[in-house]
Amino acid sequence: MSSQNIYILGIESSCDDTAASVIHNGKILSNVVASQKIHEEYGGVVPELASRAHQQNIVPVVHQALKKANITKDELNAVAFTRGPGLMGSLLVGTSFAKSFAYGLNIPLIDINHMQAHILAHFIDEEGFEKPPFPFLAMTISGGHTQIVKVDNYFDMTVIGETIDDAVGEAFDKSGKLLGLGYPAGPEIDKRAKLGNPKAFQFTKPKVSGLNFSFSGLKTAILYFIQREVKANPNFITENLNDICASIQYTIIGILIDKLKLASKQTGIKHIAIGGGVSANSGIRQALKDGKQKFGWTTYVPKFEFTTDNAAMIAIVGYLKYLEGDFAKQDVMASARLKI
Ligand code: KG4
Ligand code: ZN
Repeated sequence: MSSQNIYILGIESSCDDTAASVIHNGKILSNVVASQKIHEEYGGVVPELASRAHQQNIVPVVHQALKKANITKDELNAVAFTRGPGLMGSLLVGTSFAKSFAYGLNIPLIDINHMQAHILAHFIDEEGFEKPPFPFLAMTISGGHTQIVKVDNYFDMTVIGETIDDAVGEAFDKSGKLLGLGYPAGPEIDKRAKLGNPKAFQFTKPKVSGLNFSFSGLKTAILYFIQREVKANPNFITENLNDICASIQYTIIGILIDKLKLASKQTGIKHIAIGGGVSANSGIRQALKDGKQKFGWTTYVPKFEFTTDNAAMIAIVGYLKYLEGDFAKQDVMASARLKI
Protein backbone atom coordinates (compact mmCIF):
# COMPACT_ATOMS: atom_id res chain seq x y z
CA MET A 1 0.00 0.00 0.00
CA SER A 2 1.42 3.37 -0.97
CA SER A 3 1.25 5.96 1.77
CA GLN A 4 2.10 8.65 -0.71
CA ASN A 5 -1.22 9.73 -2.09
CA ILE A 6 -3.92 9.31 0.52
CA TYR A 7 -6.93 11.63 0.75
CA ILE A 8 -9.11 11.35 3.85
CA LEU A 9 -12.27 13.22 4.75
CA GLY A 10 -12.62 13.94 8.48
CA ILE A 11 -15.99 14.72 10.06
CA GLU A 12 -16.54 16.15 13.55
CA SER A 13 -19.93 16.70 15.20
CA SER A 14 -19.47 15.82 18.87
CA CYS A 15 -20.70 19.07 20.42
CA ASP A 16 -21.78 22.34 18.81
CA ASP A 17 -19.40 22.62 15.86
CA THR A 18 -20.11 20.92 12.55
CA ALA A 19 -16.76 20.42 10.88
CA ALA A 20 -15.21 18.71 7.87
CA SER A 21 -11.63 18.56 6.66
CA VAL A 22 -9.63 16.94 3.90
CA ILE A 23 -6.11 15.74 4.60
CA HIS A 24 -3.63 14.71 1.92
CA ASN A 25 -1.06 12.45 3.56
CA GLY A 26 -0.18 14.45 6.69
CA LYS A 27 -1.10 17.87 5.33
CA ILE A 28 -4.43 19.61 5.79
CA LEU A 29 -5.98 20.84 2.52
CA SER A 30 -9.18 22.23 4.04
CA ASN A 31 -10.60 22.75 7.52
CA VAL A 32 -14.18 23.98 7.56
CA VAL A 33 -16.11 24.67 10.76
CA ALA A 34 -19.69 25.84 11.11
CA SER A 35 -20.08 27.08 14.67
CA GLN A 36 -23.58 27.21 16.10
CA LYS A 37 -24.47 30.70 17.28
CA ILE A 38 -27.89 29.55 18.49
CA HIS A 39 -26.51 28.48 21.90
CA GLU A 40 -25.27 31.95 22.86
CA GLU A 41 -28.68 33.16 23.91
CA TYR A 42 -29.08 30.15 26.22
CA GLY A 43 -25.66 30.59 27.87
CA GLY A 44 -24.62 27.02 27.05
CA VAL A 45 -25.02 24.25 24.50
CA VAL A 46 -28.60 22.98 24.13
CA PRO A 47 -28.23 19.36 22.90
CA GLU A 48 -31.48 19.19 20.92
CA LEU A 49 -30.70 22.43 19.06
CA ALA A 50 -27.13 21.28 18.43
CA SER A 51 -28.33 18.08 16.81
CA ARG A 52 -30.77 19.93 14.58
CA ALA A 53 -28.12 22.44 13.50
CA HIS A 54 -25.71 19.60 12.65
CA GLN A 55 -28.34 18.14 10.37
CA GLN A 56 -28.66 21.45 8.56
CA ASN A 57 -24.92 22.07 8.35
CA ILE A 58 -23.33 18.74 7.57
CA VAL A 59 -23.96 18.52 3.83
CA PRO A 60 -22.83 22.10 3.00
CA VAL A 61 -19.82 21.81 5.34
CA VAL A 62 -18.60 18.58 3.71
CA HIS A 63 -19.25 20.03 0.26
CA GLN A 64 -17.18 23.10 1.13
CA ALA A 65 -14.33 21.02 2.57
CA LEU A 66 -14.05 19.02 -0.67
CA LYS A 67 -14.29 22.17 -2.76
CA LYS A 68 -11.59 23.99 -0.77
CA ALA A 69 -9.35 20.93 -1.02
CA ASN A 70 -9.96 21.02 -4.76
CA ILE A 71 -10.84 17.34 -5.01
CA THR A 72 -13.99 15.39 -5.84
CA LYS A 73 -15.50 12.83 -3.49
CA ASP A 74 -14.38 10.04 -5.81
CA GLU A 75 -10.74 10.82 -5.02
CA LEU A 76 -11.23 10.10 -1.32
CA ASN A 77 -9.57 7.01 0.13
CA ALA A 78 -11.52 6.88 3.40
CA VAL A 79 -14.01 8.70 5.63
CA ALA A 80 -13.07 9.31 9.28
CA PHE A 81 -15.63 10.49 11.83
CA THR A 82 -15.89 11.27 15.54
CA ARG A 83 -17.47 8.29 17.25
CA GLY A 84 -17.33 9.85 20.74
CA PRO A 85 -17.22 11.09 23.40
CA GLY A 86 -19.78 13.87 23.08
CA LEU A 87 -23.49 14.60 22.93
CA MET A 88 -25.35 11.57 21.58
CA GLY A 89 -27.71 13.53 19.31
CA SER A 90 -24.77 15.44 17.84
CA LEU A 91 -22.56 12.37 17.38
CA LEU A 92 -25.36 10.51 15.60
CA VAL A 93 -25.53 13.09 12.82
CA GLY A 94 -21.81 12.80 11.96
CA THR A 95 -21.79 9.04 12.42
CA SER A 96 -24.78 8.40 10.18
CA PHE A 97 -23.51 10.78 7.53
CA ALA A 98 -20.01 9.23 7.52
CA LYS A 99 -21.39 5.71 7.32
CA SER A 100 -23.59 6.40 4.33
CA PHE A 101 -20.96 8.51 2.59
CA ALA A 102 -18.31 5.79 2.92
CA TYR A 103 -20.83 3.11 1.92
CA GLY A 104 -21.91 5.06 -1.14
CA LEU A 105 -18.32 5.58 -2.27
CA ASN A 106 -17.34 2.03 -1.32
CA ILE A 107 -14.30 3.20 0.67
CA PRO A 108 -13.19 2.41 4.26
CA LEU A 109 -14.84 4.00 7.27
CA ILE A 110 -12.63 5.00 10.22
CA ASP A 111 -13.98 5.70 13.71
CA ILE A 112 -12.14 8.30 15.79
CA ASN A 113 -11.98 9.05 19.50
CA HIS A 114 -12.42 12.82 19.91
CA MET A 115 -10.07 13.00 22.91
CA GLN A 116 -7.30 11.13 21.11
CA ALA A 117 -7.81 13.49 18.20
CA HIS A 118 -7.30 16.60 20.34
CA ILE A 119 -3.92 15.12 21.29
CA LEU A 120 -2.92 13.82 17.87
CA ALA A 121 -3.67 17.22 16.30
CA HIS A 122 -0.04 17.88 17.22
CA PHE A 123 0.97 15.54 14.39
CA ILE A 124 -0.56 17.60 11.59
CA ASP A 125 2.20 18.78 9.23
CA GLU A 126 2.31 22.52 9.73
CA GLU A 127 5.18 24.88 9.12
CA GLY A 128 6.57 26.39 12.31
CA PHE A 129 4.95 23.74 14.56
CA GLU A 130 7.05 20.95 16.02
CA LYS A 131 5.67 17.52 16.76
CA PRO A 132 6.21 16.23 20.30
CA PRO A 133 8.42 13.14 20.72
CA PHE A 134 7.09 10.07 22.60
CA PRO A 135 6.55 9.86 25.48
CA PHE A 136 4.92 13.21 26.19
CA LEU A 137 2.22 14.57 28.46
CA ALA A 138 -0.89 16.08 26.89
CA MET A 139 -3.29 18.31 28.75
CA THR A 140 -6.63 18.73 26.97
CA ILE A 141 -8.51 21.75 28.26
CA SER A 142 -11.81 22.86 26.78
CA GLY A 143 -15.47 23.48 27.52
CA GLY A 144 -16.09 19.75 27.56
CA HIS A 145 -12.88 18.20 28.85
CA THR A 146 -9.97 18.51 31.25
CA GLN A 147 -7.49 15.65 31.17
CA ILE A 148 -3.81 14.93 31.55
CA VAL A 149 -2.79 12.05 29.33
CA LYS A 150 0.50 10.17 29.13
CA VAL A 151 1.13 9.52 25.47
CA ASP A 152 3.56 6.65 24.77
CA ASN A 153 2.64 6.29 21.12
CA TYR A 154 -0.10 7.36 18.70
CA PHE A 155 -2.59 4.88 20.07
CA ASP A 156 -0.97 4.04 23.37
CA MET A 157 -2.37 6.67 25.76
CA THR A 158 -3.20 6.60 29.46
CA VAL A 159 -5.39 9.16 31.22
CA ILE A 160 -3.48 9.97 34.42
CA GLY A 161 -5.70 12.82 35.61
CA GLU A 162 -9.10 14.30 34.82
CA THR A 163 -11.78 16.53 36.22
CA ILE A 164 -14.18 15.01 38.71
CA ASP A 165 -16.82 17.68 37.98
CA ASP A 166 -16.71 20.71 35.65
CA ALA A 167 -14.31 21.13 32.74
CA VAL A 168 -11.91 24.06 32.92
CA GLY A 169 -13.70 25.88 30.07
CA GLU A 170 -16.91 25.58 32.08
CA ALA A 171 -15.12 27.16 35.03
CA PHE A 172 -14.33 30.14 32.81
CA ASP A 173 -17.81 30.23 31.26
CA LYS A 174 -19.75 29.82 34.51
CA SER A 175 -17.62 32.42 36.30
CA GLY A 176 -18.24 34.77 33.39
CA LYS A 177 -21.97 34.18 33.63
CA LEU A 178 -21.88 35.23 37.29
CA LEU A 179 -20.20 38.44 36.15
CA GLY A 180 -22.82 39.07 33.48
CA LEU A 181 -20.49 38.28 30.57
CA GLY A 182 -21.77 36.63 27.38
CA TYR A 183 -21.27 32.97 26.41
CA PRO A 184 -18.68 31.61 26.07
CA ALA A 185 -16.97 33.91 28.55
CA GLY A 186 -13.44 32.45 28.38
CA PRO A 187 -12.10 34.80 25.68
CA GLU A 188 -13.65 37.87 27.38
CA ILE A 189 -12.18 36.94 30.78
CA ASP A 190 -8.80 36.49 29.07
CA LYS A 191 -9.05 39.93 27.44
CA ARG A 192 -10.02 41.66 30.67
CA ALA A 193 -7.47 39.71 32.72
CA LYS A 194 -4.71 41.40 30.72
CA LEU A 195 -5.88 44.76 32.09
CA GLY A 196 -6.38 43.67 35.70
CA ASN A 197 -4.41 42.73 38.80
CA PRO A 198 -4.26 38.92 39.21
CA LYS A 199 -3.61 39.23 42.92
CA ALA A 200 -6.45 41.66 43.67
CA PHE A 201 -8.70 38.89 45.03
CA GLN A 202 -7.80 35.47 46.37
CA PHE A 203 -9.77 32.31 45.76
CA THR A 204 -8.71 29.13 47.46
CA LYS A 205 -7.72 26.35 45.12
CA PRO A 206 -9.65 23.07 45.42
CA LYS A 207 -7.89 20.31 47.30
CA VAL A 208 -8.04 17.29 45.05
CA SER A 209 -5.40 14.67 45.60
CA GLY A 210 -3.23 13.29 42.82
CA LEU A 211 -3.65 14.44 39.27
CA ASN A 212 -7.42 14.91 39.19
CA PHE A 213 -9.08 18.31 38.92
CA SER A 214 -12.17 19.89 40.46
CA PHE A 215 -13.65 23.22 39.46
CA SER A 216 -17.13 23.23 40.95
CA GLY A 217 -15.91 24.42 44.37
CA LEU A 218 -14.16 27.37 42.76
CA LYS A 219 -17.36 28.35 40.98
CA THR A 220 -19.25 28.31 44.29
CA ALA A 221 -16.49 30.31 46.00
CA ILE A 222 -16.70 32.93 43.26
CA LEU A 223 -20.50 33.02 43.55
CA TYR A 224 -20.40 33.64 47.32
CA PHE A 225 -17.62 36.20 46.93
CA ILE A 226 -19.61 38.17 44.36
CA GLN A 227 -22.85 37.98 46.34
CA ARG A 228 -21.05 39.28 49.44
CA GLU A 229 -19.28 42.11 47.68
CA VAL A 230 -22.32 43.21 45.67
CA LYS A 231 -24.34 43.39 48.88
CA ALA A 232 -21.81 45.88 50.24
CA ASN A 233 -21.37 47.74 46.96
CA PRO A 234 -23.94 47.25 44.17
CA ASN A 235 -21.39 48.52 41.63
CA PHE A 236 -18.69 46.10 42.77
CA ILE A 237 -18.63 44.07 39.54
CA THR A 238 -18.46 46.98 37.11
CA GLU A 239 -15.90 48.84 39.23
CA ASN A 240 -13.62 45.79 39.56
CA LEU A 241 -14.36 43.68 36.50
CA ASN A 242 -10.80 43.53 35.13
CA ASP A 243 -9.32 42.69 38.53
CA ILE A 244 -11.95 40.01 39.15
CA CYS A 245 -11.27 38.46 35.73
CA ALA A 246 -7.50 38.57 36.29
CA SER A 247 -7.86 36.96 39.72
CA ILE A 248 -10.16 34.19 38.47
CA GLN A 249 -7.85 33.44 35.54
CA TYR A 250 -4.79 33.46 37.78
CA THR A 251 -6.44 30.93 40.10
CA ILE A 252 -7.54 28.62 37.27
CA ILE A 253 -4.14 28.71 35.56
CA GLY A 254 -2.49 28.01 38.91
CA ILE A 255 -4.62 24.88 39.31
CA LEU A 256 -3.67 23.63 35.84
CA ILE A 257 0.04 24.33 36.23
CA ASP A 258 0.21 22.72 39.70
CA LYS A 259 -1.18 19.48 38.26
CA LEU A 260 1.12 19.60 35.25
CA LYS A 261 4.10 20.06 37.55
CA LEU A 262 3.02 17.05 39.58
CA ALA A 263 2.41 14.96 36.46
CA SER A 264 5.82 15.87 35.09
CA LYS A 265 7.48 15.03 38.41
CA GLN A 266 5.66 11.69 38.74
CA THR A 267 6.36 10.53 35.19
CA GLY A 268 9.72 12.21 34.63
CA ILE A 269 8.38 13.55 31.31
CA LYS A 270 9.22 17.12 30.37
CA HIS A 271 7.64 17.30 26.92
CA ILE A 272 4.26 18.90 27.46
CA ALA A 273 1.56 19.46 24.86
CA ILE A 274 -1.76 21.21 25.31
CA GLY A 275 -4.95 21.22 23.28
CA GLY A 276 -8.60 22.29 23.44
CA GLY A 277 -10.20 25.75 23.32
CA VAL A 278 -8.73 26.93 26.62
CA SER A 279 -5.21 26.57 25.23
CA ALA A 280 -5.94 29.87 23.47
CA ASN A 281 -5.77 31.52 26.89
CA SER A 282 -2.89 33.97 27.17
CA GLY A 283 -2.34 33.08 30.84
CA ILE A 284 -1.79 29.38 30.18
CA ARG A 285 0.43 30.19 27.21
CA GLN A 286 2.59 32.47 29.35
CA ALA A 287 2.72 29.91 32.17
CA LEU A 288 3.92 27.24 29.74
CA LYS A 289 6.58 29.60 28.41
CA ASP A 290 7.72 30.25 31.98
CA GLY A 291 7.81 26.47 32.52
CA LYS A 292 10.61 26.25 29.96
CA GLN A 293 12.96 28.18 32.19
CA LYS A 294 11.54 27.14 35.55
CA PHE A 295 11.15 23.40 35.01
CA GLY A 296 13.06 22.64 31.82
CA TRP A 297 9.86 21.83 29.93
CA THR A 298 9.56 21.73 26.17
CA THR A 299 6.02 22.77 25.35
CA TYR A 300 3.80 22.31 22.31
CA VAL A 301 0.74 24.39 21.48
CA PRO A 302 -1.00 23.62 18.18
CA LYS A 303 -2.17 26.20 15.68
CA PHE A 304 -5.41 27.69 17.02
CA GLU A 305 -7.66 26.32 14.27
CA PHE A 306 -6.49 22.79 15.12
CA THR A 307 -7.01 23.11 18.86
CA THR A 308 -10.66 24.13 19.27
CA ASP A 309 -13.13 21.50 18.05
CA ASN A 310 -12.31 20.88 14.39
CA ALA A 311 -12.23 18.11 11.79
CA ALA A 312 -8.56 18.45 10.83
CA MET A 313 -7.70 16.60 14.03
CA ILE A 314 -10.17 13.87 13.02
CA ALA A 315 -8.61 13.69 9.56
CA ILE A 316 -5.04 13.33 10.88
CA VAL A 317 -6.05 10.44 13.15
CA GLY A 318 -7.96 8.99 10.19
CA TYR A 319 -4.74 9.12 8.19
CA LEU A 320 -2.72 7.45 10.96
CA LYS A 321 -5.34 4.70 11.32
CA TYR A 322 -5.58 4.31 7.54
CA LEU A 323 -1.85 3.57 7.39
CA GLU A 324 -2.42 0.82 9.95
CA GLY A 325 -5.46 -0.53 8.13
CA ASP A 326 -7.54 0.06 11.23
CA PHE A 327 -11.05 0.41 9.81
CA ALA A 328 -14.55 0.37 11.31
CA LYS A 329 -17.44 -1.81 10.26
CA GLN A 330 -20.74 -0.38 8.99
CA ASP A 331 -22.48 -1.38 12.24
CA VAL A 332 -20.22 0.87 14.37
CA MET A 333 -22.28 2.95 16.84
CA ALA A 334 -21.74 6.45 18.20
CA SER A 335 -20.61 6.32 21.83
CA ALA A 336 -21.29 9.33 24.08
CA ARG A 337 -18.93 8.12 26.82
CA LEU A 338 -16.15 6.65 24.72
CA LYS A 339 -12.90 6.45 26.71
CA ILE A 340 -9.33 6.97 25.51
O1 KG4 B 1 -12.39 23.31 22.31
P1 KG4 B 1 -13.56 24.22 22.37
O2 KG4 B 1 -13.76 25.17 21.23
O3 KG4 B 1 -14.88 23.40 22.48
C1 KG4 B 1 -15.11 22.42 23.44
O4 KG4 B 1 -15.56 22.83 24.52
O5 KG4 B 1 -14.83 21.24 23.19
O6 KG4 B 1 -13.46 25.03 23.73
C2 KG4 B 1 -14.37 26.02 24.09
C3 KG4 B 1 -14.02 26.51 25.46
C4 KG4 B 1 -15.06 27.47 26.06
O7 KG4 B 1 -15.30 27.07 27.38
C5 KG4 B 1 -14.35 28.81 26.00
O8 KG4 B 1 -14.76 29.71 27.01
C6 KG4 B 1 -12.92 28.41 26.19
O9 KG4 B 1 -12.78 27.21 25.44
N1 KG4 B 1 -11.97 29.42 25.70
C7 KG4 B 1 -11.17 30.13 26.49
C8 KG4 B 1 -10.45 31.02 25.65
N2 KG4 B 1 -10.85 30.80 24.37
C9 KG4 B 1 -11.77 29.81 24.42
N3 KG4 B 1 -11.01 30.11 27.82
C10 KG4 B 1 -10.11 30.96 28.34
N4 KG4 B 1 -9.39 31.84 27.61
C11 KG4 B 1 -9.52 31.90 26.27
N5 KG4 B 1 -8.79 32.77 25.56
ZN1 ZN C 1 -13.23 18.93 22.06
